Amino acid sequence: MKPGYSLMKHYLQFKDFRAEEYAYVFERARVIKQRFKNYEKYQPLVDRTLAMIFEKASTRTRVSFEAGMYQMGGSVVHLTTGDSQLGRAEPIEDSARVISRMVDIVMIRTFEQTKIECFAAHSRVPVINGLTNEFHPCQILADLFTYLEHRAPVNARGFEMDSLKGKVVAWVGDGNNMANTWLQAAEILGFTVHVSTPGGYEVDPAVAGIRDTGCYKVFADPREACRGAHLVTTDVWTSMGYEAENEARLKAFADWCVDADMMALAQPDALFMHCLPAHRGEEVAAEVIDGPQSVVWDEAENRMHVQKALMEYLLLGRIG
Ligand code: CP
Ligand code: NVA
Repeated sequence: MKPGYSLMKHYLQFKDFRAEEYAYVFERARVIKQRFKNYEKYQPLVDRTLAMIFEKASTRTRVSFEAGMYQMGGSVVHLTTGDSQLGRAEPIEDSARVISRMVDIVMIRTFEQTKIECFAAHSRVPVINGLTNEFHPCQILADLFTYLEHRAPVNARGFEMDSLKGKVVAWVGDGNNMANTWLQAAEILGFTVHVSTPGGYEVDPAVAGIRDTGCYKVFADPREACRGAHLVTTDVWTSMGYEAENEARLKAFADWCVDADMMALAQPDALFMHCLPAHRGEEVAAEVIDGPQSVVWDEAENRMHVQKALMEYLLLGRIG
């Protein structure tokens, strides 16, 4: 058994970590990002291997995990459904047993959350959720880090985490994996999500896995959800795996486009975020995503920095 495994943790949904673990991981991400920007080599994961399993498409998740692992001195194995036995019905349990005997950490992007839970239950090594139908915790990790970078003072221990307390995040659009993960984050870190979805696409607190429905408020009118918000965010109307519903969704979501009028109702210094990829003219107007309040490029870059901190934490525990 390699060092650290006795403390093995998975990261399958946002609520797998406590608030103080987030404070730690964000501080590590801040330090790791600074080193990267200064071209300082930092290779704590030499001889460690990450397996990345993709059952859905990806640009950001693949590049951020792969580049991040190489930067930390490790190496990466990339698997997809089409080029592995995963696509030929090898049981998940068997795949997990085999893959986790050969690598040190696994990242999976798949469909049902139950699949990643099954993999983790049979894995000898930490498993990270790189997006499921229900959750996208690595993305919210990056989004919160981006918010803190832009809005929080830094004290001796890192970002002032209280900067998140009492803040309002407006979620405009589908009650999807991103929305569910925002709700978990709100419950853990003490902010409120103003959720506005078209009828039939609401968030389900049971699926989101939250205990306290006080962490979010539902608004029929997306403009009302944006009123007073510190952060406005949205996502595609049709997530991966739901393409057959595309036509119906295009009609249902027509009024859920984040435009300049919605942003004008938010706080004057509100940030705009989108996990990307985006469809300008659908869920967001070009003037918003390409405008001065948008931090989507920082948000995308920060995927790499927070995931480096996440892998360091899962493999090595707390440093120092
Ligand atoms: N935001 C995100 O996860 O992007 P990819 O689908 O490109 O990985
Ligand atoms: N909700 C989107 C996010 C893509 C990063 C999807 O699941 O396709």
